[in-house]
Amino acid sequence: MLKMLRIWAIVLITPTIACADNSIKIGVVLPYSGVYALLGNEVTDGLELALEQYGSEISGRQIILLKEDSEVRPKIGLSKTKKLVFQDRVDLLVGPVASNVAGAMRDFVHNAKVPLIIPNAGNNLLTGEKCSPWVIRTSFSNDQINRLMGPWLFKKGFRTLFLMAPDYAAGHQMMDAVRGGFEEAGGTVVGEEFPPLRETKDFAPYLAKIKAYNPDGLYVFFAGGLAIQFVRQYHEFGMTEHIPLAGAGWLTSPLFLPAQGLAATGFTGALNYVPSIDSNENRAFQSAFKTRYKRAASEFAVQGFDTGRLIIETLKVTAGDVKNKVALLKAFHEVSFVGPRGPFRIDPKTNNVIQDIYIFETREVGGIVEHVVLDKVSDVQDPLNGCDLSQG
Ligand code: BEZ
Repeated sequence: MLKMLRIWAIVLITPTIACADNSIKIGVVLPYSGVYALLGNEVTDGLELALEQYGSEISGRQIILLKEDSEVRPKIGLSKTKKLVFQDRVDLLVGPVASNVAGAMRDFVHNAKVPLIIPNAGNNLLTGEKCSPWVIRTSFSNDQINRLMGPWLFKKGFRTLFLMAPDYAAGHQMMDAVRGGFEEAGGTVVGEEFPPLRETKDFAPYLAKIKAYNPDGLYVFFAGGLAIQFVRQYHEFGMTEHIPLAGAGWLTSPLFLPAQGLAATGFTGALNYVPSIDSNENRAFQSAFKTRYKRAASEFAVQGFDTGRLIIETLKVTAGDVKNKVALLKAFHEVSFVGPRGPFRIDPKTNNVIQDIYIFETREVGGIVEHVVLDKVSDVQDPLNGCDLSQG
């Protein structure tokens, strides 16, 4: 409740401040309600930590965040984006979390020529066929996280998989990514289910069906409230021992673990960050996050943090100039750093991040769930997928 008040207070107060000075205004379009509200708040926490750590004043100009709730609804996300651009006259945009909202925002930001930095939504098209010089992604593409899991699972002995994900762009793109690699390796997808994104409250009918297929593994993508509910029910139904669970790593995010508890053990996932990464950068980040927020940081916090850092470093290159758009877009490609997840840079060919991907297993260690890294694939870069940034 306090957090909601804080968010809305900032939304109400900042436009007045923004008009009165030469601040750099960043419009933030994230879900603060709905199925991905936890994710939106976590990205925001990471972003604000970066502003605190790397400096929210560039060449005498204060960076100000103006936050809007996308509600995980494409139409709302687009109308909030238009409001931030036309009414609040923001210089940059950060958002969204969901692929369907990103799809709805893309044409508007491309035509309005306002840089959009995506801190989560993985919609392949935005750094593929529908890429734009104005759209830069710091998180992942849906393909980037999932495509290596098909061959990896086949190599580990899986021959049949059942797929399940929410029925929207991200769910379909992620399942396509794993299906492609798994079938190419020689495996068979025996069935798939796409429950609705917003309305699904009970997985029982789906679990009964999957049990009847008896696949070697169930591969899923769920996040937010869906991930919490799914993991609990999979455990309650005693499925974990019979059908091994694998998938996009958000299923057992540290953000959902307090609600999932030990039911989250025994999952194999792929992700761009796990808290157990053994590096000084990660330890320093986790410690700073814990000091400020009194909890462990998840991959969503890292994405918000790296987004903030990228923006600050880019603005340092342009000495706070956001009007020379050519120089600003070029500067995004000039910044690279080693962050909590490892080496970070933006691919100038697609504007998607190039990063390491971790394959992990969740295990109980001393009564808590840990993400134990089994494999790491370095410098994972997306193919062009129809992207031609010179057409922007
Ligand atoms: C997406 O819609 O792209 C997405 C949402 C939550 C986690 C990962 C991806």
